[in-house]
Amino acid sequence: MTARPLSSRVALITGASAGIGQATARELATLGARIAVNARREERLVALVQELADRGDQGPDDARAIAVAGDASDEPVIASMLDEPEAAFGAPVDLVVINAGRGLAGSVMTSDPGQWEEMIRINLVGAARLLRAAGERLSRLQEQREWPEHAADIVVLGSTVGRHISPFSSMYGSTKFAIGSLAEAARRELGPKGVRVSLIEPGIVASEFQGVAGYDPGSFGAMMDTFAPVLTPEDIARLIGFIVKQPAGVHLSGTVVRPTRQEYP
Ligand SMILES: NC(=O)c1ccc[n+]([C@@H]2O[C@H](COP(=O)([O-])OP(=O)(O)OC[C@H]3O[C@@H](n4cnc5c(N)ncnc54)[C@H](OP(=O)(O)O)[C@@H]3O)[C@@H](O)[C@H]2O)c1
Repeated sequence: MTARPLSSRVALITGASAGIGQATARELATLGARIAVNARREERLVALVQELADRGDQGPDDARAIAVAGDASDEPVIASMLDEPEAAFGAPVDLVVINAGRGLAGSVMTSDPGQWEEMIRINLVGAARLLRAAGERLSRLQEQREWPEHAADIVVLGSTVGRHISPFSSMYGSTKFAIGSLAEAARRELGPKGVRVSLIEPGIVASEFQGVAGYDPGSFGAMMDTFAPVLTPEDIARLIGFIVKQPAGVHLSGTVVRPTRQEYP
């Protein structure tokens, strides 16, 4: 395997203004991919694109990273996320990380119902829309290419609470159960077409996630201390890099990754 195993790849990463998405953009760029990043906070994306350009580890070519700002659950934004990288890089996206999402503290009984629709829209509807659009494009792309010369990847961020029921965040968990099942169904549908759909289900990762979800800093902080060290976004990014740099005929399709001392969920 070469030192820059993704040098022929074009990657799209949603939710790249923070946390796992941002770390994944850096990791895939280090592995040689050209990168398109999405999130709503455009100024952060612009800074990230600049950082990747300034790092100078992207080789001699121009335009190794671009930003496509907007809500990742909007159909026109999804179309732009797939069209703009091809226009900028002269090669189609063949690696999509469906990462944008948010948490929500509480169960169906205790969570804030005013936030349900926004969460379901990005975590499930938006993720499903991108899964469909990326699945269509990547399977068409693979039809035109010699198998198994080229890999094509869709990586989906699930969660351990999308596999093990947690009464403390069950509304959020329900969206991750749903996207986990869609990812596995898409793997069965798209794998035979040469497209790998990989589900990653992390336990606790320290990021902006906990603040956005509204977890109580006291009790949740104490739980994080119990599990310390919790995962970092870079831990997940490294794992994504490992999965997508495998030869096209090798598929690590489902990964649960927890802090070692997190026994549950
Ligand atoms: N942290 C954890 O413990 C953990 C565990 C398991 C799974 N996960 C999953 O991992 C993924 C990333 O989480 P994280 O920990 O990196 O959280 P984070 O630090 O809060 O980052 C979330 C990212 O998603 C973006 N985002 C949110 N809503 C969006 C929307 N409607 N359109 C576009 N972008 C949107 C945010 O950017 P903007 O606000 O700028 O749009 C941000 O870049 C999520 O799917 C999460 O459910 C996290």
